Amino acid sequence: MQMNANQWDSLWINACIATMQAGYGLLPNAAIACQNGQIAWLGPMIELPASPSTLAKNVYDLAGKCLTPGLIDCHTHLVYAGNRANEFELLLQGQTYAAIAKSGGGIQATVSATRSISEQDLFTVSLARAQTMLAQGVTTIEIKSGYGLNLETELKILRVAKRIGEVLPVTIKSTFLGAHSLPVEYKNDAESYIDKVCNEMIPAIAAAGLAQAVDVFCEKIGFNLAQAKRVFQAAKAHGLSIKCHAEQLSDMGASMLASQYQACSVDHLEFLSEPGVKAIAQSNTVAVLLPGAYYFLQEKQLPPLALLQEYGVPIAIATDCNPGTSPTTSLVLMMNMACTLFKMTPEQAWAGVTTHAAQALGLAQTHGALALGMQADFAIWDVAHPRDVVYQFGAAPLYSLVKHGKVVDMS
Ligand code: NIG
Ligand code: FE
Repeated sequence: MQMNANQWDSLWINACIATMQAGYGLLPNAAIACQNGQIAWLGPMIELPASPSTLAKNVYDLAGKCLTPGLIDCHTHLVYAGNRANEFELLLQGQTYAAIAKSGGGIQATVSATRSISEQDLFTVSLARAQTMLAQGVTTIEIKSGYGLNLETELKILRVAKRIGEVLPVTIKSTFLGAHSLPVEYKNDAESYIDKVCNEMIPAIAAAGLAQAVDVFCEKIGFNLAQAKRVFQAAKAHGLSIKCHAEQLSDMGASMLASQYQACSVDHLEFLSEPGVKAIAQSNTVAVLLPGAYYFLQEKQLPPLALLQEYGVPIAIATDCNPGTSPTTSLVLMMNMACTLFKMTPEQAWAGVTTHAAQALGLAQTHGALALGMQADFAIWDVAHPRDVVYQFGAAPLYSLVKHGKVVDMS
């Protein structure tokens, strides 16, 4: 075949590529090229059609380093103000998360801080968190609102999320989590608050195009099944996807309900039972496991990994980055914890932050794997095999990050 000189924008050679198609999908001694932000060629070095320097304007020799899809953090509450280190001390003294929440701390404490901070300052603190994620190989982040609990502050959070995606080389997917906790103004009147979420907030946020999904914290200290159902119906009516914080502290049956509404994902799942697993398996829903929250709250109830696997449910892993139950920005650490705490294999953990995380965000066609035509988002690691990234906990041996075909300046 006749090749045009410099037909590609960029070409990475001598890489160990994990395509994440069928497990790692490892291609040792491989090369990958991109054109206009998309993957234009991928394969063994010996199949390159000509010598590298004639094929692309920019050629990067990786000398055996490992190249993977950019990581996808599919569940975060990244945009918030303040800090709850005081509650960490209470947790260590044996107080429960639910008791702290009931006594006015918990989500309410972060709501007060997030309502009172300026939009610019909220942007500054949140941007810094997002930057630490990029430094660990993340190229796509889902961000939930839910620390405003009034329209004004929920919009403020979602605008900040959008702006992060405008200034950083990262894809942001935003989720409206108005039904996160009952705001103090609605004490003892959850129904009226849910009315507001469904009739005012969802329509306004959908009209502004500021969220692609709606989430509900379905829990004894959150909202019940009937209330979750109303929120899902409103989300559907406005063309938004559905997600659910489900079965974190008790088995409410929320996963089953969310699956019936074709939720993109159900998240947490420590208390998920077999009927719930079956319901998830019958829909296109991804199970998102959050080892950071499990670890930080020192939970004892493990998510039913074996059952999820038996029923073939895709499992994603995320940070749940939030000030109350998972104050971390390290998705790489979560991959390690998914193995040590939840007994996943490093290969499964990789699928959890790439292909399955993409599916949880409705991005599986374009993100989360390396194949012709997919978006050229990848992470290059200073290791020889992808399992090494999971093994080195506390470190993220990132060598280089590529977003939409361009090398990200990490300085
Ligand atoms: O995913 N459980 C509800 N939401 C968060 C925690 C929020 C908070 O405590 O600030 C979670 O764990
Ligand atoms: Fe969460």
